[in-house]
Amino acid sequence: MNSYLETTKELYRDAAIEPNVGLCCTTTPVWSLPGLEIPKRMLQMNYGCGSTVNPRDLVNNPKILYVGVGGGMELLQFAYFSRQKGGVIGVDVVDEMLSASRGNFAEAEKHNSWFKSDFVELVKGDALNLPIGDESVDVAAQNCLFNIFHNEDLKTALAEMYRVLKPHGRLVMSDPICENDIPEELREDERLRALCLSGSLPMKEYIKMLTDIGFGTIEIRAKRPYRILDPKHYATNKLIYIESLEVCAIKDPMPEDGPCVFTGKTAIYYGDKEYFDDKKGHVLMHNQPLSVCDKTASALQSLGRDDIFISESTFFYDGGGCC
Ligand SMILES: C[S@@+](CC[C@H](N)C(=O)[O-])C[C@H]1O[C@@H](n2cnc3c(N)ncnc32)[C@H](O)[C@@H]1O
Repeated sequence: MNSYLETTKELYRDAAIEPNVGLCCTTTPVWSLPGLEIPKRMLQMNYGCGSTVNPRDLVNNPKILYVGVGGGMELLQFAYFSRQKGGVIGVDVVDEMLSASRGNFAEAEKHNSWFKSDFVELVKGDALNLPIGDESVDVAAQNCLFNIFHNEDLKTALAEMYRVLKPHGRLVMSDPICENDIPEELREDERLRALCLSGSLPMKEYIKMLTDIGFGTIEIRAKRPYRILDPKHYATNKLIYIESLEVCAIKDPMPEDGPCVFTGKTAIYYGDKEYFDDKKGHVLMHNQPLSVCDKTASALQSLGRDDIFISESTFFYDGGGCC
């Protein structure tokens, strides 16, 4: 067993026994929904760096898999939408985390009349070898775990998620990313990695890992400031700025001309006609915004027209539009 994976387990064993408030604290607000009350200990064990819960992914009674359960907060939020026995499966490799979350679900049951602990099925297992059948879930989620993995393990973890998703299923993830060079000494620091501080990839590399696995559509749903590693406190001579990214990777077939990556670009036609048709499936109605993937945005840009506006990426996209 790789020693950084062992260090990670030890760190989360401790964080299961005694909540480590602020371990992965984030600016994403905790879901506040009618009738949803999150127990205090579950909140203290919020070890994510964003949110993976989006009601738009949760229509048509989906089967949900959540890998790396932490205190169970996001599983409770998913169960809020699915509300059925075994609707959410939680997988974690740390026994103490599984029992801490089990205790938190029992507590949640006392405060949420709609919730039953058996809405969540907890299973011991490893993200690198999921104890879940092929093509058996509609939504697979992980929050702030995969950034810890070195690239070969990350590939394996993503391939596992791809394997268990049904066709067109959705992998929803939240992870830190970083555009600065992280010094090797920090990257190899097992504890910093396990704390989700030094394993992050630049966004493009992170997305490429997903498209290389085969996900044909990618949505960048949010990008937020996350952490600073500064020379006074860390082995770096430059400030390192870390952001948190929320992504949905959809198991759509890979288009022949490459993946559709939506980073929040919009095309607007403002010419003299009623609409502009690029004859490749994109019809831009006069002065109406159309979300486009980056591939289409650059194809439209390359036409060199003076009546089509292409916006910058907003990194805030969750559906709609046409690639
Ligand atoms: C940073 S915490 C995130 C917890 C949770 N996703 C949240 O948002 O609060 C990482 C979680 O992954 C679990 N974990 C660590 N290594 C794992 C592995 N190889 N496979 C599955 N789970 C793992 C830890 O026990 C912990 O629950």
